[in-house]
Amino acid sequence: MSPNNATMDWATWAFSPSPSAIIVTLLAVLLIPILVHYILYKTQAPRVLPTILLVGPSGGGKTSLLTLFATGHPSQTQTSQSPQSAICQTPPSTSTSSNRYRSENDTSARDQPTFTLLDTPGHGKLRHHALSSLTSTPALKGLIFVLDSAAVSSATNLTEAAEYLHDILLLLQKRHTGAKTSKNAQSVPVLVAANKQDVFTSLPAGLIKQRLESEITKVRVTRSKGLMDSGVGMEGDVGGGSEDAEWLGAFGSVGFGFEQMGECDVEVSVVGGNVRGEGGKGGKVEGWWEWIGGVVMTDRFALANGTTPMVCNQADGYYCGGQWKGIHDQLDYIQGMGFDAIWISPIVAQMPQWTADGMSYAGYWQQNLYDINPAFGNSTHLHDLIDAVHARGMFFMLDIVVNHMAWNGHPDGIQYQILQPFSDQKYYHKYCPSGYSDDDLSNLEECWLGSPEVPLADLDTGDPIVRQLFSMWIKTQVWKWGVDGLRIDAGINVEPDFFPDFMEAAGVFATAEVYTSHEDIMCTWTDKIGSSLNYPLYWKITEAFQSSDGGMSALGDMMKSERSACKDSSLLGTFSENHDVPRFANHTTDMSRAENVAAFIIMADGIPVAYQGSEQHLQGGTNPFTNREPLWETGYDRTAPIYKLYNTLNLVRRHAIRSDGGFTKYPSDIIHQDDHTIAMRKGNDGAQTIAVLSNTGADSSDASVQLCQGHGFSSNTKLTEVLSCTNVMVDGNNCINVPVKSGQPQVLYAADALSGSTLCGDKSGDKVALTAVTISSTTITTTIGGQPTAIRTATTIPLSEITPTGVGAARSAAAPRAALPGRTDMLVGSTLMAAFMTGLAATLIKCLG
Ligand code: GTP
Ligand code: MG
Repeated sequence: MSPNNATMDWATWAFSPSPSAIIVTLLAVLLIPILVHYILYKTQAPRVLPTILLVGPSGGGKTSLLTLFATGHPSQTQTSQSPQSAICQTPPSTSTSSNRYRSENDTSARDQPTFTLLDTPGHGKLRHHALSSLTSTPALKGLIFVLDSAAVSSATNLTEAAEYLHDILLLLQKRHTGAKTSKNAQSVPVLVAANKQDVFTSLPAGLIKQRLESEITKVRVTRSKGLMDSGVGMEGDVGGGSEDAEWLGAFGSVGFGFEQMGECDVEVSVVGGNVRGEGGKGGKVEGWWEWIGGVVMTDRFALANGTTPMVCNQADGYYCGGQWKGIHDQLDYIQGMGFDAIWISPIVAQMPQWTADGMSYAGYWQQNLYDINPAFGNSTHLHDLIDAVHARGMFFMLDIVVNHMAWNGHPDGIQYQILQPFSDQKYYHKYCPSGYSDDDLSNLEECWLGSPEVPLADLDTGDPIVRQLFSMWIKTQVWKWGVDGLRIDAGINVEPDFFPDFMEAAGVFATAEVYTSHEDIMCTWTDKIGSSLNYPLYWKITEAFQSSDGGMSALGDMMKSERSACKDSSLLGTFSENHDVPRFANHTTDMSRAENVAAFIIMADGIPVAYQGSEQHLQGGTNPFTNREPLWETGYDRTAPIYKLYNTLNLVRRHAIRSDGGFTKYPSDIIHQDDHTIAMRKGNDGAQTIAVLSNTGADSSDASVQLCQGHGFSSNTKLTEVLSCTNVMVDGNNCINVPVKSGQPQVLYAADALSGSTLCGDKSGDKVALTAVTISSTTITTTIGGQPTAIRTATTIPLSEITPTGVGAARSAAAPRAALPGRTDMLVGSTLMAAFMTGLAATLIKCLG
């Protein structure tokens, strides 16, 4: 038999309906994916699993909970004598829709997050196991304090539980205080699992919380008295050595409340449940899974030993662990580029769980507008960040979503009551999937973004109640956090008429995401909101600079066209990359072209907006999203060429604004244009900048560009090219010959007018320094739900009122909306750094620490 015949016979058999052929085919179909998955799984680098520690009084149900979580059903237990652990995986109910509904673009191997659950004995004499695990477990991510909800109705049991919990919390508090110096403070949230809710004598979780708090109030007094009498806790003890180091919570406070633990980064939640249900079945534990989901998933790439960063694979769609605190620590890095405003990810509470489309790390999947996203920190961290931004004379810009609320699951199954404050279906448009095309604007405004697995329920923003709730909300946000400006997500998906009232309520500057290449469409929104991120120009910038074939005419044409399409095109945000589009370096890795783009962003009309990582020439794309790189991988290199270029050009721009109140309003004149070059003049005579930008790339030979008209300088004026600090003369014929080496950007300014700029050796005083934005950060006490409640607020004072000279005055002078009261004009004249991925920006900081 020839080999050919053998193949034919085999093929005939394989495609025949014989049972053996069907079985073999089925086996192949089933086994191959398992085998491939196994191989992929095995080749993954091992990582330290996050650990959750189980503590609490004996008989509370810790071991029962461990067996339930590890095996799916609770087994009989006995009083534990030693610790034991199990590897657990969050159930699909915490991360619904699992892998069956994976995005087709997703090629990564994804599974339910796993973690180690460590059970400790609760007997009074065996608690040293729990206490030592607390200090020695490397990737401790959370602590569950399990107690018997029926037992604590007896005074003795309540005291015992409160004493144990007090000691645990005090240890966490000391751990935090001690870690501050080593920059190693990893927050460990605590869940008080009020177990055995199935027993009818059990107390509800709310009552248990109250009783524990008042009992801990007594315990801490007794404990601190005892320590003072014995002299322990004075000099040299962990956590500072003073008596306040031995005092749990706010020192000197009369009553203890779990919220006091927020000061030392310990979030305490009390949630009821029961391990055992009727008939010995697994009981009600969803609330605890939810909590674990939040803890484990938000930081599943745990640091192995607190210093070595784990790889953050952006394509996976997980949180990478970044926090507000991290951005706070990196403000020097951002300000070192000369940016004077930051825009960060939305702060409000998100869908906490893993979904078919990844997790909510980007911040656009909100569920509760009145709560904040615990993955990024607590309210103290956020207030501290914003105060620090203001103290530097920088502005804080908040990203917000007014288009939708998010749900994990099918659109028909939405439990509207959990969406706050829009907790009823009547506030939403009827479901229809978005067509994602600006050919049909009413579809964009009314249909739902997202996917069928993770729908973004589209708010009926035409409804007067929805509008009113939004106005109230934004007023509070601006007032509470001290917000200077807003970035409005998915602006094109909300009808333009929504915005005038909303902007009035906000009282601050806002720029919107209006995703369209048509300037007339963009301007419809811009005119109502004040500003948009300039998408139509973004595409032209990319085309013009990505290769030497790009051509410059379309770029110049768009700049001109936008001037007539928008009421005020000087307020548009100029950008070349963001988290939704491929980075510029994804189109070309040529450094010189990237530098020209960066120079265009700063020197062109509009408000410059840079996306974190562009300064490091990062090259990520969007399919999958590799453009959300964690910055720590770059080492925060302050010598990177674009990092330095941003700083120099931001100084030039600020100096020009300082010298010429009309600079930002001056529409750039295109004074030269050819296939490879565009030369723009911006600013009135004396403070004008000339930017000569090209697309020829780093390998191009030396060239020169002759500018004889429109530059506004007289003959024989000495100009300085500020990036190289070399001088060029305007010749007797009023022409400037600008040398262009290796396709580098050139930015010219009158040499004599550089005084006060700190550029190119100028030492005549730093007039471009930012002055602190005066802020009043206060804590007021008000009554909420009958309880006196302290609220921290931050208020920025309008710059025009506080700085008659300096940058503030320059900004106000440049402000086109100065007639409006309040701070509407504040960001005009600023340059904005989008430290967008709160998570990613801070991962690095943690790791560096
Ligand atoms: P130690 O090991 O001594 O620290 O106790 P533990 O916290 O590990 O308690 P364990 O899990 O051994 O549970 C103690 C008893 O409570 C067992 O008899 C469990 O069956 C019972 N139990 C645990 N959870 C529940 C529950 O939700 N409801 C009811 N009715 N009984 C429960
Ligand atoms: Mg046990």
